[in-house]
Amino acid sequence: MSGSDRSSSPEFNPLAFDEGLTPLPEYKAAGTTALDFSGLLDEPLKLHEDLTSGCGGQLWPAGLVLAKHMLRYHRDELKHSRILELGAGGGIVGLTVAKGCGTLDVPLMMTDQEEMESLMQHNITLNGLEDRVQGRILDWGEPLSQEVVDLKPDTILAADCVYFEPAFPLLMQTLKDLLALNPSATVYFCFKKRRRADMQFLKTARKNFTLTEVNDEDRPIFSREGLFLYTFTSK
Ligand SMILES: C[S@@+](CC[C@H](N)C(=O)[O-])C[C@H]1O[C@@H](n2cnc3c(N)ncnc32)[C@H](O)[C@@H]1O
Repeated sequence: MSGSDRSSSPEFNPLAFDEGLTPLPEYKAAGTTALDFSGLLDEPLKLHEDLTSGCGGQLWPAGLVLAKHMLRYHRDELKHSRILELGAGGGIVGLTVAKGCGTLDVPLMMTDQEEMESLMQHNITLNGLEDRVQGRILDWGEPLSQEVVDLKPDTILAADCVYFEPAFPLLMQTLKDLLALNPSATVYFCFKKRRRADMQFLKTARKNFTLTEVNDEDRPIFSREGLFLYTFTSK
């Protein structure tokens, strides 16, 4: 990544995480996974994983936790929500929500950097969700597009977006912009602690937003793995 390219995601390089408490997922060959979240989805979600476009090209643990949480606890209300996903990667969370909720009043906007656009689109099509999900580019730290402003999301999903320290202020800025755009919005934020700096992100978030640790019957399992699930709302 060049120093001036502020919003690029890092290359997939486990060695870059030198303080790692937990290693990143193993490098996997491209392939398609089917997921039904212990029967919560009637028909499995198909997810093509391919790391050639960036680290978001494979499933991350917080994505699995957040997708299952949203299905299990929020399925009904989400049908009527205006949903935006940040750092969607291949789309595990957004696609699970769209598949599990059935018809949505407004298409869900799944976003990531340009490199991930084709994988997002591929997975939307693979699951026949073109009418419920839009794949869009949203670089953290950049001003929100008119399309996002018009959507005025009330539900923001972010899974495993805390993993690269130089991007923390950019992600924080985007979260601030989204909560300023809609002060009654809720951010569902799930991440895995890999380094001490990750908790610094949470500390800064606590200064800017109201943080609530979210109940989930799987919490004892995922917290043992260093995974955290919060909502962020306006103070
Ligand atoms: C670790 S992956 C998580 C992917 C997915 N949410 C999941 O849980 O499987 C983080 C994602 O954040 C995206 N990302 C990183 N930096 C970004 C930035 N500055 N702006 C927008 N997206 C970014 C990456 O492209 C990547 O897809």
